[in-house]
Amino acid sequence: MSLLIKNGTIVTATSEFTGDLYIEGETIRQIGFNLKVDADRIVDATGRYILPGGVDEHVHYGSFGGRLFETAEAAAVGGTTTIVDFAPQEKDVPLLDAIRRQAAKAEHISSVDFAFHAVIMDPKESVFEEVRHLPEVGVATLKLFMAYKGTSFYCDDEAILNAMMRAKEAGVTMMVHAENADIITILTNHYLSQGKTAPVYHYHARPPIAEEEATGRAIALAKAADCPLFVVHVSAKEAMEAIREAHSQGWPIFGETCTHYLTLTTDYLDKPVFEGAKYICSPPLRPQEHVDAMWHAVREGWLTAVGSDHCALDGGYEGAKKKGTNFSNVPNGCPGVQDRLALLWTYGVCTGKITRQKFVELFATNPAKVVGLPGKGELRVGADADIVIFDPDWKGVITNKDSLHGIDYEPFEGFEIQGRPEQVYLRGRLVAQKGVFVGERGKGQWQKCRPYGLCYDYYHK
Ligand code: URP
Ligand code: ZN
Ligand code: ZN
Repeated sequence: MSLLIKNGTIVTATSEFTGDLYIEGETIRQIGFNLKVDADRIVDATGRYILPGGVDEHVHYGSFGGRLFETAEAAAVGGTTTIVDFAPQEKDVPLLDAIRRQAAKAEHISSVDFAFHAVIMDPKESVFEEVRHLPEVGVATLKLFMAYKGTSFYCDDEAILNAMMRAKEAGVTMMVHAENADIITILTNHYLSQGKTAPVYHYHARPPIAEEEATGRAIALAKAADCPLFVVHVSAKEAMEAIREAHSQGWPIFGETCTHYLTLTTDYLDKPVFEGAKYICSPPLRPQEHVDAMWHAVREGWLTAVGSDHCALDGGYEGAKKKGTNFSNVPNGCPGVQDRLALLWTYGVCTGKITRQKFVELFATNPAKVVGLPGKGELRVGADADIVIFDPDWKGVITNKDSLHGIDYEPFEGFEIQGRPEQVYLRGRLVAQKGVFVGERGKGQWQKCRPYGLCYDYYHK
């Protein structure tokens, strides 16, 4: 099958031009002006932007309480064609087996392409030794949690340093969830002892200093190990500044923020009764000055990518979040994979905060480079034909009834949206059209990541 997309405005991370894209099978074969080729199908994209399919480098499906890969169709309609999920490790399960188990949940189920980050949850010598073998199973990124002390997620500095020492030998990119666990425990107990149980205390118990301290410590550990670092879900201005400072000194220190840290504030946690629980995720939503700082950081390149941290908790609000009796036992996480393009475009591009090129970089090109997927996130000859034909004139509103994430609420309910993916192609096949999934469930493929991703650029040892 071949496809010719004609007369669109092709947007890449570095340029924009009117032209045609010719796709043969699953691959982009030609890009140019007025291409003279025969194709089985021709699509006229006049007045439309042609964007690379999104790469969401931060999602949770079938773990961390998130709903299973059946609901990955939400990604497709939202213009994201590749999701990168975290493979949790159970005690005594080898790291590589944990990845294979998580992949088995996605294969023949996910409707978009998928890849994985490893997660160490059983820190010990045999597991650290496995880190160098991660690229053999197509994994080139590894997350450790500095928060959640007292649970299997938590890793101390010794574990982080041990993992970093192994990661750099194999070109694996280290990721950390940077929040100081002790600050959180002590402040949580403090507020609960005062009867302060409402969701907004989730923010007060996890103040910016908890993120700033852990981010600074992670950077120090990365420097000690001489290991590139990618800090996930950065939300606090001071944490971002620590990353910027280390990076500007020449250290390979990078970070991502997420769509909710660009669009929602602590006020959402303060909604009446217990509704703020819908917005409980970690790090927490921050006051407006932090939101402004996140926009500044993505515009200037101080943060490298924007993920969704999609975690559509099984049970949603009524069946999961509302069951919490106070802020500390509400399960963490919010959906967002379907909304990432819409929010970045409407509140970033349309307001003039970021250019269309920067949008492409944050939404697709850089996430693919960070995780090590050279065939994704770019409109270039030889790349996978993951393509969004984007109608910039469409206007609408985000609502849960149009969401395919499979739970009972939408954190961005009522947000006005400018533009939408008119057609979304996954490796040359049409999978979504005007907000409707039209592909076949389970056609997503496991994408094997290569080591020495973007965080190793200019830093080969
Ligand atoms: O609250 C969040 N972010 N839940 C998902 C797990 C994580 O820390 O990324
Ligand atoms: Zn995290
Ligand atoms: Zn996450």
